[in-house]
Amino acid sequence: MMLEFQDVSFRYPSDSYSMMEHLHFSVEEGSFVSIIGPSGCGKSTLFRLINGLEQPQSGQITVKGVPISKLKSYAGFMPQKDLLFPWRTVEENICLPMELQKADRAAKEEACKKVLQQVGLTGIEKKYPSELSGGMRQRVSFARTLLTGADMLLLDEPFSALDFFTRIEMQEWLLHQWEQMKKTILFITHDVEEALFLSKTVYVISKPCPFSSLERIDIPLAYPRDRSALEQPEIIHLKEELIQKLRKEAVE
Ligand SMILES: Nc1ncnc2c1ncn2[C@@H]1O[C@H](COP(=O)(O)OP(=O)(O)O)[C@@H](O)[C@H]1O
Ligand SMILES: [Mg+2]
Repeated sequence: MMLEFQDVSFRYPSDSYSMMEHLHFSVEEGSFVSIIGPSGCGKSTLFRLINGLEQPQSGQITVKGVPISKLKSYAGFMPQKDLLFPWRTVEENICLPMELQKADRAAKEEACKKVLQQVGLTGIEKKYPSELSGGMRQRVSFARTLLTGADMLLLDEPFSALDFFTRIEMQEWLLHQWEQMKKTILFITHDVEEALFLSKTVYVISKPCPFSSLERIDIPLAYPRDRSALEQPEIIHLKEELIQKLRKEAVE
């Protein structure tokens, strides 16, 4: 198992209520898992726990069976906003994780070139973030996440700020990346169609706080996928079901 939450309970110190209690869930190695739930329900908090930025009051989080407190560089994180430094070129931005690991210059340039090629962006090494489109910036941000070398990628609503057509393009691009890389991806979204199109498994945060389980839905589609798969009756049915679930939770 790539990731396991075992009996995890968590409350922000400033809050009077628990966000999750005795939460169990797991993510298989190499899979593409989306976490979907209404805004404010604790999705990003799950990532903060996985990253070790917050500590659970009880329970354990393991990666490949090892408690995360004993691990380093096990997860690459990509936030909604690209967080590229505007005064650094693409290359300097991408190499940041390697810089922190004190890699030498030649190794950095080589790795940067390779990863840019991989994400479909050659020849923009010397450009600044302000010279790129929103979709390109997210690809650069993704490339930087890849360079952490982690087998598990945590993507927190990475496409939600993009316009509709760019978003669709980026979803197709991401699936292609995932099929090539064979890494494990955890993907937070509140977009039902996005979750259905991308994921092998969707976890729904199915109750208002505190939640103790995530509802698991395995998507009955093979890879590679294209958008026409979203028109299959079974998927349309699943989509309606998910929308109903999320709406119900939003008003309760
Ligand atoms: N650093 C923090 N300190 C205290 N409370 C927080 C912090 N981050 C988030 N919260 C609270 O936790 C709740 C869930 O936040 P979050 O995990 O960001 O939700 P989501 O990503 O699902 O929108 C929010 O309502 C917020 O009040
Ligand atoms: Mg969030």
